[in-house]
Amino acid sequence: MPLVKAPDEASTKTFYIETFGCQMNVHDSEKVIGTLEQQGYTKVETEEAADLILYNTCSIRDKAEQKVFNRLNDYKKLYKQGKRFGVLGCVAQQEGEKIFERAPYVSLVSGSASYRKLPEMLVQLELGGQRITGLDDRQTDQTFETEFTARSNTHRGYITIIEGCDKFCAYCVVPYTRGKERSRTSTSVLAEARRMADAGYTDIQLLGQNVNSYRDTEGKRSFAELLVAVGEISGIRRVRFTTSHPRDFTRDIVEAIDAVPTLCDHVHLPVQSGSSNVLHHMQREYTREWYLERIAWIKSARREISMTTDIIVGFPGETGEDFEQTISLLGEVQYDAVFAFKYSPRPNTPAITMADSIPEEEKSIRLQALLDRQREWQRANYAKHIGQEMEVMVEGYNHARGQVMGRTSQNKTLNFTTRQPILPAVGSYQQVRVTQSFPNSLAGEAV
Ligand code: 5AD
Ligand code: SF4
Repeated sequence: MPLVKAPDEASTKTFYIETFGCQMNVHDSEKVIGTLEQQGYTKVETEEAADLILYNTCSIRDKAEQKVFNRLNDYKKLYKQGKRFGVLGCVAQQEGEKIFERAPYVSLVSGSASYRKLPEMLVQLELGGQRITGLDDRQTDQTFETEFTARSNTHRGYITIIEGCDKFCAYCVVPYTRGKERSRTSTSVLAEARRMADAGYTDIQLLGQNVNSYRDTEGKRSFAELLVAVGEISGIRRVRFTTSHPRDFTRDIVEAIDAVPTLCDHVHLPVQSGSSNVLHHMQREYTREWYLERIAWIKSARREISMTTDIIVGFPGETGEDFEQTISLLGEVQYDAVFAFKYSPRPNTPAITMADSIPEEEKSIRLQALLDRQREWQRANYAKHIGQEMEVMVEGYNHARGQVMGRTSQNKTLNFTTRQPILPAVGSYQQVRVTQSFPNSLAGEAV
């Protein structure tokens, strides 16, 4: 007997979704929500109120699989109440049908490369199907495009321009969980951006695992040209893009940022390590010097472009000397934020065959040392903004502190006070003078 209500009771079908991981996952969930709503489902805020419980998972680090199974175990008791369960995302793709063995009450397991088939999978689910899978599409050339994206914010929105990854860094699961690299046409991306601008969005973030590996399948525009075209859409005030891969970081991206004021002055360019030796073993296919050349392009721009990065500490074989080179690279570049992680062996990746040679304790010591040094560099970098006037987009209010929360084009948090009796609206833009700085944020006054 179907546990989810039949299609003729469509208006009462409810679902709950929980999302983990990167912005790609967050945005995938927005598209999944839109697709379900299109199929007659209503989103609810608690598991208890839902007929269908979806869990959009991430497997980038740590013992992600174990955490998912622990959670599914909690869901077991809800099964008796007639609820159905679906596991989506990277753990779904990675563990595949094994999920049904360990959690037999799960009915749907799908990786992101199969989401375009969700409507069919939902029909199977409603007809009482068991063990429905979307796992075989990692070689597909197709992307998940839908006009029914349920964006959670009404001013700022994501657009996926490229899915998957063909880079195969030694430590990374993404090529195995998200499948082959495939881009949308620039015509379709621009149409979506225009629809968003017409709907009142002013801030667009272009997404891709390697966003700048974008290749227009119609051959009309390079990545930099697509950035410019999105930035020139009437009504769009800010365009961001993440994450850039150093291998495909071309100089015309910097030229585009210099030429088009709506392109935000921020580049997230993960380096992973400052040691060419470690980079070689990570299969990053660039050296420290090669990476620093890209940084030099960014620093030579007329606009001051903020830079941020990702670092992995304790990759197999990383010596104390290698680690010192990472610290020295951070000192040389002067990033405005660093996302640093302890190396975590991941299933299916080439690095899993290398001995995880750095003890956990040593990884923690290196990570802490790196964060301590970086905090002091950031403190000094953020202090340089004192006295400057910057435009922020209003994101919300911290009533306890009497502050309005804002974000600069450089992606820095700038909270401010205002003498106006009416607070500026969320999504509006405001000029702010910086009066105080911290290692991770700025504070100021509206002008
Ligand atoms: N262990 C630790 N960190 C990792 N990352 C990716 N894979 C791993 C791993 N196996 C980090 C990288 C990447 C970020 C999204 O996560 O720094 O840029
Ligand atoms: Fe996590 Fe990577 Fe999957 Fe994003 S793509 S959800 S970071 S494993």
